[in-house]
Amino acid sequence: MSHFQFVDRHIGPRKADVDLMLEKLGVSSLDELINQTVPASIRLKEPLNLGDGISEDAYLQRIRELAMKNRVLKTYIGMGYYGTHTPSVIIRNVLENPVWYTSYTPYQAEISQGRLEALLNFQTMVSELTAMEVANASLLDEATAAGEALIMMYNTRSKDQLKSDVNTCLIDEAIWPQTRAVIETRALGLGIDLEFVNASELNYNPKVHFGLILQYPDAMGRVSDYRSLVNTVHDAGGKVAVATDLIALCMLVPPGEWGADIVFGSSQRMGVPMAYGGPHAAFFATRDELKRSMPGRIIGVSKDVHGNPALRMALQTREQHIKREKATSNICTAQALLATMAGFYAVYHGPEGLKGIASRIHRYACALAAALEHIGLDRQNKQFFDTLHYKLPKGPTSEKLRNMALSRGINLLYTGVSQFGISIDETTTLKDVEELLALISECIGAETPVVSTEVSTALPQSLLRTSEFMKQEVFNRYHSETEMMRYIKRLDRKDVSLAHSMIPLGSCTMKLNPATAMFAITWPEFANLHPFVPLDQAQGYHEMMSDLRSDLAKITGFADVSLQPNSGANGEYSGLMVIRAWHEHRGEGHRNVALIPASAHGTNPASAVMAGLKVVVVDCDDKGNIDMEDLRSKVEEYSDILACVIVTYPSTHGVFEASIRELCDMVHKHGGQVYMDGANMNAQVGLSSPGFIGADVCHLNLHKTFAIPHGGGGPGVGPIGVAPHLVDFLPGHPVIDNRRPATLTVAAAPWGSAGVLPITYGYIKMMGGDGLTMASKIAILNANYIAASLDSEFNVLYKGENGRVAHELILDCRPIKHESGVSELDIAKRLMDYGFHAPTLSFPVAGTLMVEPTESESKAELDRFIEAIRNIRQEIAEVIEGVADKEDNVLKNAPHSQYDIVSDEWNHKYSREKAAYPLPWVRTNKFWLSVSRVDDAWGDRNLFCSCDPISNY
Ligand SMILES: Cc1ncc(COP(=O)(O)O)c(C=O)c1O
Repeated sequence: MSHFQFVDRHIGPRKADVDLMLEKLGVSSLDELINQTVPASIRLKEPLNLGDGISEDAYLQRIRELAMKNRVLKTYIGMGYYGTHTPSVIIRNVLENPVWYTSYTPYQAEISQGRLEALLNFQTMVSELTAMEVANASLLDEATAAGEALIMMYNTRSKDQLKSDVNTCLIDEAIWPQTRAVIETRALGLGIDLEFVNASELNYNPKVHFGLILQYPDAMGRVSDYRSLVNTVHDAGGKVAVATDLIALCMLVPPGEWGADIVFGSSQRMGVPMAYGGPHAAFFATRDELKRSMPGRIIGVSKDVHGNPALRMALQTREQHIKREKATSNICTAQALLATMAGFYAVYHGPEGLKGIASRIHRYACALAAALEHIGLDRQNKQFFDTLHYKLPKGPTSEKLRNMALSRGINLLYTGVSQFGISIDETTTLKDVEELLALISECIGAETPVVSTEVSTALPQSLLRTSEFMKQEVFNRYHSETEMMRYIKRLDRKDVSLAHSMIPLGSCTMKLNPATAMFAITWPEFANLHPFVPLDQAQGYHEMMSDLRSDLAKITGFADVSLQPNSGANGEYSGLMVIRAWHEHRGEGHRNVALIPASAHGTNPASAVMAGLKVVVVDCDDKGNIDMEDLRSKVEEYSDILACVIVTYPSTHGVFEASIRELCDMVHKHGGQVYMDGANMNAQVGLSSPGFIGADVCHLNLHKTFAIPHGGGGPGVGPIGVAPHLVDFLPGHPVIDNRRPATLTVAAAPWGSAGVLPITYGYIKMMGGDGLTMASKIAILNANYIAASLDSEFNVLYKGENGRVAHELILDCRPIKHESGVSELDIAKRLMDYGFHAPTLSFPVAGTLMVEPTESESKAELDRFIEAIRNIRQEIAEVIEGVADKEDNVLKNAPHSQYDIVSDEWNHKYSREKAAYPLPWVRTNKFWLSVSRVDDAWGDRNLFCSCDPISNY
């Protein structure tokens, strides 16, 4: 066994390095540095009581034991989650490949062309299958996508409806119960009324209703023709959103062909394991004229400065980073890695492959239906795609059927005393159909008939899709494993990830995602569990989750934790809804003001609005701290209606503000609650905690502090911790009944993205309490080491009382820009020539770069980064001194793509060598860019969000 402990592997700097770094900072020990950085008033008095870190071997053994406690039965529950075969080529080369899973959201387009293309494939696949004009690059899950559809229809009401405040939406009552629960929660926040109706009998009244949400096929497995209904709603000026299933749309007339305005759903069954509920990518598509109101990220085709095609994230000005409380939604992290996988699944199978999968599913469902009809079973849904609903004949109950099924290792859906349902999926074989038939025949005392797959479809011609889809070359070319593997490789070579170099993104905590912690997520015992199986089949998950909740509660200093929110922003929204529910419970439901510092992340105000709160901005002083005087006056002004303050700690300016306890006291005194945004917990774990400081709620970004990878923009997990008085208001779930007195549901699955929780669990267990505390200390050391090394090149904007930064630092580029004309953007792009991802650009302060090294980066890597920044400073000096041209210089022209460098034409006033190899070590690990600087404005003006049609190849 290795003599290294996991913590030694996780933390970058070696012991000797730490000594050198401390020397540089002029302190004699790590503790001295921490004492100078973290105010004594908020320092924990006791060490974090989580036990010792265990070895990687011991963790693998532990997680194996837990896996064995999960039992994977043949499951036909459906309800939005289905068995699927994830192609091995995708598991090995994407899901288990750090180039894909460790990369960041593609804000820096030039070093993200691979994942941008993969996401464009996803969007194109969605547009093609739904027959809609534009699709986004994923949302959190189907139920939250329904919530987004509701809000989008509400926000795009006609002028007349706005004027008369028409605020009721009609919802098909045959929608998944989890979708219904999430929509109900969303509607609560925004004061929208919902009417649940039978879609075949509804009465649309434009004076009352602004929209309609349908499900196709619906929760009863029915496939209905909604053409005339949609026309009626449109004629009355309303909008229609449709929840649907991409595999079903390979056979069924897509909603885009019958006029839907919004089409959404889950892409889980496109090769993404059920994973006990998630993560999976929701899809969301709309008509062209509504694209600016669409939530989530959109990938668009643009061009680089040479006019070559280049991809980028489009229409970002409508997102929360810019629009804050006026944003289209609070979505930040979504489900990029899962969307990438679903897109690759579509690439690998192509249209013919998908049609084959869909028609086999349908054929087996038809075969089963015919045989069950033969033995006299009464099917309740006449027209179906993959799901059959039955009422048992007099005599046997569904309880009897359940017991018999369980003894054969089968889960069905039980919907009443004598009702049950069966959903067929891609993994169902003919043998499975025979087994199902034998089970049901025995249950009702009938002889088992022979199954025939020579059956005709249960669907009328009018519902069968005739239009072609996915004709683009990308979906018709990579159908052998070799071709597919090379295609994936070709894309991943275009991307910078943690597998290449440090990603110093402030506020994003791009730390190591340990390989050992990642292993279990693809094991079938974790990957193949349906979220609604009986709890005793998921004992391993529950043991792990209860341990994890308890560890996270200790870390945050709170009484309990909900794992349901599936991103940081969703955690914010959930926490704010909890606060709202608590105020209401106390008869103070009128409290609706959220005070938010000007420096807050854009998701904070956007989430507050979704929770029905009114945002009031609190100023920051010239040191970047919350202006306590302004806070005091606003707390007093809004005392009667103050719901909460939202505060990030340490602040988004990278400083531990000493006034935080005072802030909590002040807010509490005026009847408000303190919501702590835990995005910066990487500086707090083991040193302080939100609960200890005095906050009431806090979300954690497990995809930051707790080692879940960013996956190119998700999955994220955003659990919330709460103080004792709020425990009863934590989210619950309508299907797996863990509801508490309050009735909030914030995600489709009861425990959100349970499938990736083993990563955080492993990280915490292997680090142990002391290891986690050491990680916080080294994160602070690494940041201060960079700050001390670069302060003379670029002013470090904000520091604490003793001149220290927390775990991140802001480099001020404004004075240099003034002097040289070189902007923070030029510096960010030039860093790519050195092989680095840029730090966070212009957040929280315009004209700056925010650097967060994390504890996982070694001193050698920090030194390379420091040297790169210093060299860039030198390059800027050359511009200032007139040695380099003001316009034609290495910074303004950065990044230099491989095509720039090898071009026969080279008319620049500097050498190719200087452009490509600015420092000697760049040669040994050169990242060759596939595009030059991307033209953002052109891309937004000429929005194009899907792959080229085949005619353009
Ligand atoms: C300070 C802060 N708050 C909230 C969020 C939102 O988290 P998520 O992207 O998981 O939705 C972020 C994400 O970067 C953040 O930095």
